[in-house]
Amino acid sequence: MVRKIGVLTSGGDAPGMNAAIRSVTRIALNNGVEVVGVYNGYRGLLEESFVPMTRSDVSDILDRGGTKLGSARLPEFKKGEIQDTCIRNLNRAGIDALVVIGGDGSYRGALALTQKGINCIGLPGTIDNDIPGTDFTIGFDTALRTCVENVDKLRDTSSSHHRCSIVEVMGNRCGDLALYTAICCGAEMVISPETGYDELEVIERLRYLGDAVKKNHAIVIISEKICDVDALAKKVSQQTEFSGRATVLGHIQRGGSPTASDRMLASRMGEKAVDLLMEGIGGHCVGIIDNEITSMPIQEALERPRKSRKHLYRLFDRLV
Ligand code: ADP
Ligand code: F6P
Repeated sequence: MVRKIGVLTSGGDAPGMNAAIRSVTRIALNNGVEVVGVYNGYRGLLEESFVPMTRSDVSDILDRGGTKLGSARLPEFKKGEIQDTCIRNLNRAGIDALVVIGGDGSYRGALALTQKGINCIGLPGTIDNDIPGTDFTIGFDTALRTCVENVDKLRDTSSSHHRCSIVEVMGNRCGDLALYTAICCGAEMVISPETGYDELEVIERLRYLGDAVKKNHAIVIISEKICDVDALAKKVSQQTEFSGRATVLGHIQRGGSPTASDRMLASRMGEKAVDLLMEGIGGHCVGIIDNEITSMPIQEALERPRKSRKHLYRLFDRLV
């Protein structure tokens, strides 16, 4: 029987995490279960940074970006003895189940705690959309909106100056933000971990677009951690018809009020997390697959390949 549920946010923050905290809190309280907020991810478990959560504590956060509880990365949490201390702290606080909102690293921590006796449920909270076991993560849609708004603005100036805008977006080795942005903004090229990167090919393509197609401007969307975008922009200026300019969207992508879609997703997933814990289930993660809220063992999700986006890369190619 679950009497007190803890909730924490871990890893990189994502818009919609607050909506998930609110959902978990309200659904649990409405089921007669107490809720405790844990500050700063797993660090809060180690430092016993706990706060009782009431209905009103989660008022006015549904529309806020970031996370009310704070987030952190705690590399030491991989060690068994640190996890044991956290289990002791949870037991001392009377917390008998935990909802962990974060990415796949956070899921691994949730699995370790479940194996040590505290049932945990993982909710996918990251702008990267890089978590297996779900079609979409909480925060991705909002980050995509930010990317689209910004690239639309870049297009205005880029087309006025016969430029090629090279725009670096986040994604942490997952190309979804780049791919979706490229499709939504009508980019000329998308470069991501899935497409691979060949500098010569990029220059050749831009030469073709400038010389043969006589395009006035070009937008290239590129995932982070692939190349030095400033150096690429310089080469574009030197070797093609276009004047190259690089823009790194950076942490702007992590902020902002969550979209309606992220608020819905977070609210639905929070409900599922509490229902699973009330059924005595732990070590699972929640996902949305074909618009149905689902759950599966974290271990199974971590072993699954990421959902293929081949059809969307094909769509992009057919749209240029
Ligand atoms: P994300 O959850 O967004 O993937 P990280 O990979 O940084 O972000 O993980 C967040 C936190 O989860 C880490 O700082 C660490 O505390 C915990 N964590 C990551 N990997 C593991 C692991 N293998 N075992 C236990 N805890 C982990
Ligand atoms: O996982 C979210 C994310 O924003 C990634 O897209 C990015 O690679 C990373 O976190 C940046 O981390 P930090 O906030 O530590 O710079």
